[in-house]
Amino acid sequence: ADTQFPLRDGILHAEDIPLPELADRYGTPLYIYSRAALHDAWHRYARAIAGHDALICYGVKANSNLAVLHEFQQLGAGFDIVSGGELERILAAGADPRLVVFSGVGKQGWEIRKALAAGIKCFNVESAAELERLADIARELGVRAPVSLRVNPDVDARTHPYISTGLKENKFGVDIRQAPELYRQALQHPGLEIVGVDCHIGSQITQIAPYLDALDKLLDLIDVLAADGIALRHLDLGGGLGIRYTDENPPDPAELLTPVFAALAARGMGHLQLILEPGRSLVGNAGVLLTRIEYLKRTEARNFAIVDAAMNDLMRPALYEAWHGVVPVAPRTGTPIETYDIVGPICESGDWLARGRALPLEQGDLLAIQSAGAYAFSMSSQYNTRPRAAEVLVDGQNSWLIRPRETLQELYAQERIPHRA
Ligand code: LLP
Repeated sequence: ADTQFPLRDGILHAEDIPLPELADRYGTPLYIYSRAALHDAWHRYARAIAGHDALICYGVKANSNLAVLHEFQQLGAGFDIVSGGELERILAAGADPRLVVFSGVGKQGWEIRKALAAGIKCFNVESAAELERLADIARELGVRAPVSLRVNPDVDARTHPYISTGLKENKFGVDIRQAPELYRQALQHPGLEIVGVDCHIGSQITQIAPYLDALDKLLDLIDVLAADGIALRHLDLGGGLGIRYTDENPPDPAELLTPVFAALAARGMGHLQLILEPGRSLVGNAGVLLTRIEYLKRTEARNFAIVDAAMNDLMRPALYEAWHGVVPVAPRTGTPIETYDIVGPICESGDWLARGRALPLEQGDLLAIQSAGAYAFSMSSQYNTRPRAAEVLVDGQNSWLIRPRETLQELYAQERIPHRA
């Protein structure tokens, strides 16, 4: 899967750099991203939309390092943001606000103001109450807010329940049956300009069918709106395309988009701009987490490889029981293969990165945890007063430190001890 992380002369590389060199230079735990892999993932989408009116808005939450955002900005991406903080980040990375959509169920007043001032492309509104707040703020500022309703099409994305968002019991979006009424209300508001419709049904989706089901429902809605004289400019299908962590075979962007464009044309909606909000599929397999084995520990029940990365660095296993590939950076031949749980030093039983892996390991070895480009660093914390890991971007033989390891002082620099009189 990770063609930009090849095994050469018995050593795992990031593009042209042996990983042990990066470990020596930057220390571990270390996030390493391949620029070529980011570009490859982007171009798979770019090829799939070629010749169509479509915009890829990178889902910033997957990996929001400025250097990563800058790569996508340079490639022509728009951005899907979910907070005022993400808006600041993408602007700092050089993004054009006119290519930005703003999703999320809990947009605060200051975030709405900030996005209106920046002049973003669209607010993906998720409730009647939010629509009202947006309209009020826009009117107060004397502008019109571009809006799209995020509808909940009630389809099953057939993924992990924590990352499935398109079922009617989820907190996300507006019930698709209530959408026409909300659109009619929006039409009356001088502070609002209706521009589109949106959905996002989940993440790590490995089939096309749920997307096409959702699309059908959105197209039905668009017909209903048209009958009411409400014309849209775009249709946003959200993100969610999966990646291979182990043996998944997720569709390529083209496998998804060919039938999507065909359905739009067949329904006479070829004039609509198509927006997508991919996150994971643009960055997930462009990164690894490099970690070093501190200790091997054998107990009656299990063998543990205790490494210097932990759940604070990569919380997906603890949170979703997610599976990440673990490969030795310099695979040994003379060492017996044993079954290990790969765990961190944090004081929680949930602090594991992988379980039951048969590997030939020795203390001090480096391991690469794969598919760590998405929802990895961006979900990291400083739990147990552990500095967040450094991040490096590799391009051929060059590497850039795109975020230094945090210092211990930084971890508590903002804290204050009250001095009572
Ligand atoms: N658009 C919206 C409105 C979203 O909520 C998300 C992700 C995306 C786009 C991007 O989805 P993607 O293409 O990356 O699947 N932390 C979880 C994933 C949470 C996804 C949240 N929403 C994980 O580690 O698997």
